[in-house]
Amino acid sequence: MGRFTRESFIIRDNDVLRDDYQPETLEERDAELDEYAAALRPVIQGWQPNNVFLYGVTGVGKTAATHDLLKELQESADQYDDVDVNIIELNCTGCNTSYQVAVNLVNEIRKPNHPLTNVSSSRAPISETGYQQKRVFRELYADLEDIGGTVLVVLDEIDNIGSDDDILYELPRARSQLDLDVKLGVIGISNDFKFRDNLSPKVKDTLCEEEILFPPYDAGELQNILRERAEIALYDDVLEDDVIPLCAAFSARDSGSARQALRLLRKAVDIAESEARAGGDAFVTEEHVREGEFQIQRQQVVEGMHSLTQHGQHVLLTVCQLAARGETPERTKAIYRRYQKVARKNGQEPLKRRRVHDHLSDLNLHGVLQLVDSSGGRGNYNEYDLDVSLSSALDALESEFGDLEGIRELAKKNGTLD
Ligand SMILES: Nc1ncnc2c1ncn2[C@@H]1O[C@H](COP(=O)(O)OP(=O)(O)O)[C@@H](O)[C@H]1O
Ligand SMILES: [Mg+2]
Repeated sequence: MGRFTRESFIIRDNDVLRDDYQPETLEERDAELDEYAAALRPVIQGWQPNNVFLYGVTGVGKTAATHDLLKELQESADQYDDVDVNIIELNCTGCNTSYQVAVNLVNEIRKPNHPLTNVSSSRAPISETGYQQKRVFRELYADLEDIGGTVLVVLDEIDNIGSDDDILYELPRARSQLDLDVKLGVIGISNDFKFRDNLSPKVKDTLCEEEILFPPYDAGELQNILRERAEIALYDDVLEDDVIPLCAAFSARDSGSARQALRLLRKAVDIAESEARAGGDAFVTEEHVREGEFQIQRQQVVEGMHSLTQHGQHVLLTVCQLAARGETPERTKAIYRRYQKVARKNGQEPLKRRRVHDHLSDLNLHGVLQLVDSSGGRGNYNEYDLDVSLSSALDALESEFGDLEGIRELAKKNGTLD
C-alpha cells in the first residue's frame, strides 16, 4: 500500500476540526451575539457606527463571532442602496506599537484586490520604518476616506500593542477632527483583561462605547460545541460516549476555551485514526483522549524548555522532584534551595536567586508551571506548582537528562504520578 492513500476510518473532513474553520452557527453565544448585533445595528441605518470592544480569554469565540456577524451585516447591507459597508480586518499579532498597526492597516487596504473591501487602492505599500507616525496616520485617513461609506476597522488581538495605544484614540476621533466623510467604526478585540484595564482613560471613553465580555465556556457548553463539530468532521458512531465529555471537562477545568477543547479532540482523533490505519478498531476511546492530553502537555513542556538555558532546565527538574515528593505548590525560596543542590549534583554552579525567579516566571508564561498566589495568611509570597502532568514533564525532561526513573519511582511511591 502506498504512503498516500485516501482511506480514512474515523475522519470524514479534517478541515472541520481545524481552528480556522468557520462553523455554520455559533453554539452557546446567543446573548453575546445579540448584544454584539445591537451594537452594530446603527450601521444598517446608515448612521455613525459605534466603537465596540470585545474581550475574553483566548478560544471563547470572539473572532468567530466577529466573522459571523460582519458577514451577516454585509449581506444585510447589500439590500440597501444607501449603505455601503466595508470591512478591514487586521490581526495585530506581531505589532507592538500603534505605529506598526497603522502601517499594517494601510498595507492591508492597499493589497491588490483586498477581499473584504470594494476598493483596491492603487497606492504603493509603505515600509514599516522611516516615516513619522503622523504621516502614516495621514495616509491611513486618506485611504479610509477613499473607500468611503461606512468602514469598520477590526483590530483583532489588539492587546499586542500594550500601552502604546495612540491609534485607539486617533482612529475613532479622525472623522470629527479631520472633517472626513467616511463613517468610521473601530472593533477592538482583546484576549487580555489587563489590556482593557490599562487603556488610557481617553481611549476607554471612545473605544469602549460598547463593551462585550465573552466569558469562558463551561463543560456543558463545550460539549455542545464539540458535538456540533464532530458530527460534521467525523463518521457516524466512531466516538465512545465518554470522549466528548472528557475533552470538555479537561478544557473547562483549565481555561474554558473551545480552542483548547477542539485541539484535544483533534489529537485524540488523530491518534485513533493512526491506530485504525495500522489495523486497530475505527473507534475513538477515552484512552485516546488521555493519551492526547499527555502528548499536548508534553509538547507544551518541550516548547517551554526551548526558552530555557540548561540552568532553567534544572529549575524545572527541581520542581518535578518536589512534585514527585508531593511538596508542591512550593515557595520560591524552598525551590531555590533545592535547585542549588540539583545544579551542583549535575556539575553546575547554581544561578543567583534572581535568575531562578526569571526562569520560574518564564515557565509560568509557557503554561508549564502555575503560579499560586498565597498572599495573606502567613505572609505575602509566591508558590509554584506544575501546570502539566508530572509524567509529561518528566517525559520531556528525559530528552535532556536521560533516564529519570528515580523520580518516577519516588512519585509512584508517593502516589503523585498521574
Ligand atoms: N460558540 C462556539 N460554537 C462553535 N465553535 C466555536 C464557538 N466558540 C469558539 N468556537 C471555535 O473555537 C475556536 C476558537 O474560537 P475563536 O473565535 O478563534 O476564539 P477567540 O477569538 O476568542 O480566541 C474556533 O475554531 C471556533 O470556531
Ligand atoms: Mg481570536
